[in-house]
Amino acid sequence: MAEKKVTTSDLVEMKKKGEKITMLTAYDHLMASQLDGCGIDLILVGDSVGNVLLGYENTIPVTMDEMIHHCRAVTRGVKRAMVIGDMPFMSYQASSEEAVRNAGRFLKEAGVEAVKLEGGKEVFKTIKMIVGSGIPVMGHLGLTPQSVYKLGGYGVRGKDKEQALKMLEDARGLEEAGVFSIVLEKIPAKLAKKITQQIGVPTIGIGAGVDCDGQVLVTHDMLGLFEGFKPKFSKRYAEVGKEMKRCYRKYIEEVKNKEFPAEEHSY
Ligand code: KIV
Repeated sequence: MAEKKVTTSDLVEMKKKGEKITMLTAYDHLMASQLDGCGIDLILVGDSVGNVLLGYENTIPVTMDEMIHHCRAVTRGVKRAMVIGDMPFMSYQASSEEAVRNAGRFLKEAGVEAVKLEGGKEVFKTIKMIVGSGIPVMGHLGLTPQSVYKLGGYGVRGKDKEQALKMLEDARGLEEAGVFSIVLEKIPAKLAKKITQQIGVPTIGIGAGVDCDGQVLVTHDMLGLFEGFKPKFSKRYAEVGKEMKRCYRKYIEEVKNKEFPAEEHSY
C-alpha cells in the first residue's frame, strides 16, 4: 500500500498539538530517499542548491530549469514527506501571472506538492493568485537570501522595533494571502515566538529559536559537508566532508601502491 503523504492539514494539526515539524533540504534522489526513509516531514528543494551544489556565489543565478531538474530527482525518491520546490529569483517577481505559470511548472513537471517564495507585503497578491490556482505556498520572512543586495548582507533581521513590527504584519498578511506555513530565517528568538503565537499556520525556523512550530536546516551544513562554512544557527551532526576526503586520499594511495584492487575485488 502507498504510504500516506504529509499534507498541509497535517501540519496545521501538528501545530495545534504542539508536535514539532521537521524539514531538511535535498537536491537529489539519494539524499531525498534517505531523509524520507528516516521520517522527515518536509523536504525543501531549496534554491540554496545554487551555492551548495552548483558553485554559484549566492542563490541569484539559479534558474527555473535547474530547480525543475533537481525537484524531479527528489520527488522520484520520496513516498511520505511533502516536497516543496523553492521558486528561484525572478520566477515570481516580475508578474503574478508569470509566477502562477512557474509555480505550475513545479507541480506539473517535477511532481512537488508545494512551492516556497520569499517576501512580505510585495508578494501578497502573487501568493493569493498561486494559492487560488490550487497550489499550496510556503512563505519566507526574515533573512531572504534572494534580496541579499537590497539587504546588504546576511545579517540577523528584525532586530529593531520597526523591522520587528513590519515582520509581524507581513506574517499576518501572508497567512491572510493563504500560505500554509512560513519559514522564519535568522531573526531573534523572541520575535519568532511572538509571530508563532500570533498566526494560525506553522512557522518553520532556521536561526529563529526553539519556539517555532518546526525547524529546517540545509542538510549539507548539518552533515559537515562544507568544512569552511559553519553558521551559528546550524548544528553539525557529523563531519562527513572530512570522512569523504579521508576516503578519496586512501583510494588514491592504494591505487598508486597497487593495494587496490586486491584478490577479493578481482575475477
Ligand atoms: O534555499 C534554502 O535552502 C532555504 C532554506 C534555508 C530555508 O530557503
